[in-house]
Amino acid sequence: MERYNLIINNPLYQEYMNQIQEEEKNRTFCKHNIEHSLDVARIAYIINLEKGLKFSKDLIYATALLHDLGRCAQYKDNTPHHKASAKIAYKILSECNYAEIEKALICDTILNHSGDKDLLPDSFQWVFYQGDKLSRQCSICEEYHNCYWSEEMKNQRILY
Ligand SMILES: [Fe+2]
Repeated sequence: MERYNLIINNPLYQEYMNQIQEEEKNRTFCKHNIEHSLDVARIAYIINLEKGLKFSKDLIYATALLHDLGRCAQYKDNTPHHKASAKIAYKILSECNYAEIEKALICDTILNHSGDKDLLPDSFQWVFYQGDKLSRQCSICEEYHNCYWSEEMKNQRILY
């Protein structure tokens, strides 16, 4: 079985996803559910293929599944979610047979997925960031005018 399917079945992963679902049940802005994670994974994987990069599906999907798990910490005590997600991701990846070098890449990517840092084009971090950002269909979102994303950041058309 692909290791990212071990993540989906991991008890800690499921516990955090259930907490996020509960916290976001009345949220009208973008949610951080499994659909979002899979959108990110698939778009990042398409970009990877289109650009002829060779990042593995197992790494891309693992990063996507884990990158927003720290949202529950953010809702609870304002811990920035990228930091909390990286910590939780390391633990889950260890339980799902990912090697130290893979865990380091995935956790670093999660730590840098908020767009605060300039990423090297075509790097794993860059591919993942594009997938995360492009996963949101801003042009058809009911909260378009209330969202904090800048006009230039909002996706005005469907790309993937
Ligand atoms: Fe995300």
